[in-house]
Amino acid sequence: MPTLPAVHVTTDRIDELAVDALIVPVFRGAIEGPGTDTALRALGLTAVPRDVAFRGKPGEVVHLSAPGQPWGRVTLVGLGRLDELDTAMVRRAAGAAIRSLASTAATVATTLPLVEASTASIQAAVEGALLGAYRYDDARSDPKPHRLTDITVVVPSSLSEAAAGAVRRASAHARAQCVARDLVAAPPNRLGPEEVATWAQEHLGPDIEVEVWDEERLAAEGCGGLLAVAAGSARPPRLVRLRYRPSDPVARVSLVGKGITFDSGGISLKRPSTLMDAMKGDMAGAAAVLGVFSVLAELGLPVEVHGELCLAENMPSGSATLPSDVVRYRDGTTVEVLNTDAEGRLVLADGLLLAVEADVDAIVDVATLTGAVSRAIGRHAVGVFANDDDLLRQLLAAGREAGEPSWHLPLWEELSEGLESEVADMNNIGDPELGAGASVGGLFLRHFVDGTPWAHLDIAGPAWLDSDRDHLCRHGTGVPVRTLLRWLEQAD
Ligand code: BES
Ligand code: MN
Ligand code: ZN
Repeated sequence: MPTLPAVHVTTDRIDELAVDALIVPVFRGAIEGPGTDTALRALGLTAVPRDVAFRGKPGEVVHLSAPGQPWGRVTLVGLGRLDELDTAMVRRAAGAAIRSLASTAATVATTLPLVEASTASIQAAVEGALLGAYRYDDARSDPKPHRLTDITVVVPSSLSEAAAGAVRRASAHARAQCVARDLVAAPPNRLGPEEVATWAQEHLGPDIEVEVWDEERLAAEGCGGLLAVAAGSARPPRLVRLRYRPSDPVARVSLVGKGITFDSGGISLKRPSTLMDAMKGDMAGAAAVLGVFSVLAELGLPVEVHGELCLAENMPSGSATLPSDVVRYRDGTTVEVLNTDAEGRLVLADGLLLAVEADVDAIVDVATLTGAVSRAIGRHAVGVFANDDDLLRQLLAAGREAGEPSWHLPLWEELSEGLESEVADMNNIGDPELGAGASVGGLFLRHFVDGTPWAHLDIAGPAWLDSDRDHLCRHGTGVPVRTLLRWLEQAD
C-alpha cells in the first residue's frame, strides 16, 4: 500500500505556522488569494513582484525565499481567473504546488481551502496535495527518500469541525487512487495476471472476499475470452472475483475491470514505431477497481460491491489466438476474432457475463479499450457509454465532482451490423468503414449485459499521461478511482 504524507488541519493565523513552505494562491491578473497578501507583506512586498514573471495561470508555481519568516519559503500557485474558479481548480493547484516541493520540503502548509470556504474545497485541496506528492520508486535499488511528511491545510474556523470528515474522505480517495497508480506503474514482468491476483489476496483486508479462478477453472466455467487472449502468453490468465458485503446494503453493483498486464497486440502485433511502454498500463481498469476495493471498508459504504477483474497478457507466439479464430463464451455466444489487438472486449465479455449472473442492480466496466476514444474527446477525458439514463447521469455527475472530466458517447445502432460475422455470432472489430471505434467497442460489450443497467467507461486517454499535469502524475494516473468512489457514495 502506498504511504502518503500526514494531513493536519488548522485555523491558526498563517504567521504562526512554522513550515518549510507556505503555499498561497494567486488568481490570474495578480489578484491575491486568502493569506497571500499577509505572506507577501511579511516578505516586504505589496504585490507579486514583476520580475518573477508569474501570471497566476492554472497550476503555475513560483517559489519566493522568506528570510526571517516562520516559512522557509512562500510558494505562489496560480488559480486562473477568479470568475472561473471551481473546486477542481483548487485540487489542480494543490497538486501542482506540492509536486514542485515534495522532494525538497518536509512540511508544507496551504491556504488553498480558503478560496472557496466549503468542505468540498477542503477535500479537493487535500486530494490534490496527496496526489501531487505521489511518486513510484518500488523498482529502484536505491529509492530517494520522500522528504515531504506533513501537509497542513488552513481552513475557515466555521468549518473546523466539518474539516475532519473532509480530510478523512480525501485521504481515502487519494490513497485508493495511488493504489491504482502503483499497480499500473509496476512492470509487467513483476506484475502479471497471477501476481495481480496474489496482490488482491494479500492487500485488501478481512472485509473483502477474494476468489481467484485459474486457467482450469476458467475452462470449466466457459470463460473463453480470457483463455483466448492469454493463449499466446507464458503467463496464464486469472479472473479475480471481489466481494464487499455490508449488512443491509442499499444497492448491489458490480465493477468489471480490464486487466491486460501487457498488450502487445498479439498476432495483430502493434507497430513498434511508438513506445509500447504505455501498454503495461492496459490493466488500469482492473487497477482502478482494486483501488476502490482498498478503501470500501474504511469508508463504510452501505453498498454491496462486486468486482470482476479480467486479467491476461496479450502476446504473439505459436500458441497465440489467430485472426479468424472463433471464441465461445459461457452463454453460448461465439465471436470471430478478426483482430487480436481488440482483446479488451474479449476478456471483459467473460466478466460482464458473470456480473449479470450475480443479478446486481448496475454494472460499470472500466477499461483502456480504444485509441479511438481519445481521438474523439481528448486524452484528458473518460468516455462514458450506457444503456441506462439514470446510471449515465450519476456517473457523469460523479466525474464532475471528482474533477475527472467525462463525456457521454453514443451507442449508435447503425454500427451494429459491422459486428456481424461470416462464421460466428459476432466479430470483435466492427466495420472500420463506419468509424466510431470507441462506440463499436461499447456495442460489443453491450451484447453481454443482457439488459442489466450498465455503463462502460473507456479510460484509454486519462489513465495514462505522458507528462505530469497538476495533481495527475506522468504514466499511470489512477483515473477514474475517485469518480467510482463518489458514485458509490451516492448510490441508493
Ligand atoms: N489497449 C488498447 C487501447 C489503447 C490504445 C489503450 C492506446 C491506451 C492507449 C486496445 O486493446 C487496442 O489495441 N484497441 C484497438 C482496437 C482495434 C484493434 C479495434 C485500437 O484502439 O486500435
Ligand atoms: Mn489491444
Ligand atoms: Zn488493450
